[in-house]
Amino acid sequence: MAVFYSHSEEETFAWAKAYAKTLERGDVVLLDGPMGAGKTMLAKGIIAGMGITDEVTSPTYAYVNEYGDVFHFDCYRIVSAAQAYGLGLADYFGRGGICLVEWSENIKELLPDAVKHVRISGEGNTREIEF
Ligand SMILES: Nc1ncnc2c1ncn2[C@@H]1O[C@H](COP(=O)(O)OP(=O)(O)O)[C@@H](O)[C@H]1O
Ligand SMILES: [Mg+2]
Repeated sequence: MAVFYSHSEEETFAWAKAYAKTLERGDVVLLDGPMGAGKTMLAKGIIAGMGITDEVTSPTYAYVNEYGDVFHFDCYRIVSAAQAYGLGLADYFGRGGICLVEWSENIKELLPDAVKHVRISGEGNTREIEF
């Protein structure tokens, strides 16, 4: 495990953009951390790093936003595995794209065995990113 210390959202974005270069098709990346820590900022950087220029918004209401072969999940409001299966969320993991998952603890029954973790936490403008 390694740690990167970020002092601004721009530094977090830039770190995530570089981290994207380490990812391969089929990877499932769990973006962990409390509300407001910067999980969506990480997703924005990773998606930019994949060469995707679309505007990235939080998928809180849609659960998953698709950017080419990158799938960005926000499972904050998922209440059960049954609901997640019913929404078809499990299908994304077999599509050979890259899955970025916020609040993955709410869909743990659906996740594949092999996942990558990026954990972000901190206060003010400072963040610790463990990966
Ligand atoms: N170093 C930093 N890295 C990332 N976000 C930061 C940082 N400092 C302040 N912020 C702010 O924290 C918030 C992170 O929001 P967001 O990425 O939506 O969090 P989450 O998805 O974890 O709820 C943004 O308002 C951002 O401007
Ligand atoms: Mg978010």
